[in-house]
Amino acid sequence: MMSVIVSGAGGQLGKAFIDRLSFQEGYNLYSFDRGQLDIADQDKIYRTLASLPQVKFWINCAAYTKVDDAEKNEKDATLYNVLAPGYLARACWEAGVHLIHFSSDYVYHNDLRRPISENDPTEPKSIYAKTKLEGEQQIIYSGVSHTILRTSWVYGPGGHNFVNTMLRLGKTKDELRIVSDQIGAPTFTYDIVDAVKDLIHLYEDEQKEKIQGVFNFANNGEVSWADFARTIFRDANIQCNVHSITSEEYGAIAPRPPYSVLNCDKISALLTDAIPHWEDALKRYLVMV
Ligand SMILES: NC(=O)c1ccc[n+]([C@@H]2O[C@H](COP(=O)([O-])OP(=O)(O)OC[C@H]3O[C@@H](n4cnc5c(N)ncnc54)[C@H](OP(=O)(O)O)[C@@H]3O)[C@@H](O)[C@H]2O)c1
Repeated sequence: MMSVIVSGAGGQLGKAFIDRLSFQEGYNLYSFDRGQLDIADQDKIYRTLASLPQVKFWINCAAYTKVDDAEKNEKDATLYNVLAPGYLARACWEAGVHLIHFSSDYVYHNDLRRPISENDPTEPKSIYAKTKLEGEQQIIYSGVSHTILRTSWVYGPGGHNFVNTMLRLGKTKDELRIVSDQIGAPTFTYDIVDAVKDLIHLYEDEQKEKIQGVFNFANNGEVSWADFARTIFRDANIQCNVHSITSEEYGAIAPRPPYSVLNCDKISALLTDAIPHWEDALKRYLVMV
């Protein structure tokens, strides 16, 4: 049995790990939502690891994810996205546990306008993005055995996400104004979990060094938010017109990258199957909701 801790289990990605791994043969999952384990509580982290000495992997899905609120709440964003991953890293390093952590496409925010590789420059512009990058650095510099997945536009069951918002609004509104000048790749939580499972198996198969470091992971393809909304309505048979607007017209508080498609070649070389296209992932999600 492989013992795995999941923190941030109340979030959409944490829920996906519970859905996909709890009933999976060979996995012994210990999941903690925020009320059960606050990742900023160093003592609790140490006590948890001491009480579960056979744990091999800590999958951290907890984070401060309110991108616009972070502009006014830098202190909280820093505590949860920078300091807390540092606490986890140090404790996992001491316990010999491999830490799997998630970061964001927003850390790049560069002007390349082509799929971005892990070695391309990071130029985070928002507080959220800056704290996510600093959180990565806390982990990297701690010396802990780690995997950091930078992902984008995440959605899945039970989450506060774009797909669920469109499904809700599309049923009551005839028209929605959606941003069309931001391009990215929507990513289904279940596909992130499947990729992580492959990485864990490599680690278990004495190929630990292959899964060390920073990896991009997103569903294949690219789309604007407006076209993503149109596809959601088409596939869910919802009659709602999408009117394209600019980011400026929308007026979000925190800046978003205009082109944020991730080059996932590095992780693809390690995975059993090709990373699914976002349209395929969306179809699989819509039959679940
Ligand atoms: N969502 C996206 O589009 C996206 C894109 C790129 C990367 N990511 C990254 O992917 C990871 C998972 O995000 P997600 O989409 O699953 O976000 P989410 O649904 O907002 O889940 C985050 C969870 O972390 C919890 N949390 C916050 N502070 C905590 C703390 N101190 N201790 C324990 N739990 C805490 C939150 O609880 P409360 O709700 O009670 O605060 C929430 O349940 C994050 O690292 C995020 O930065 C997400």
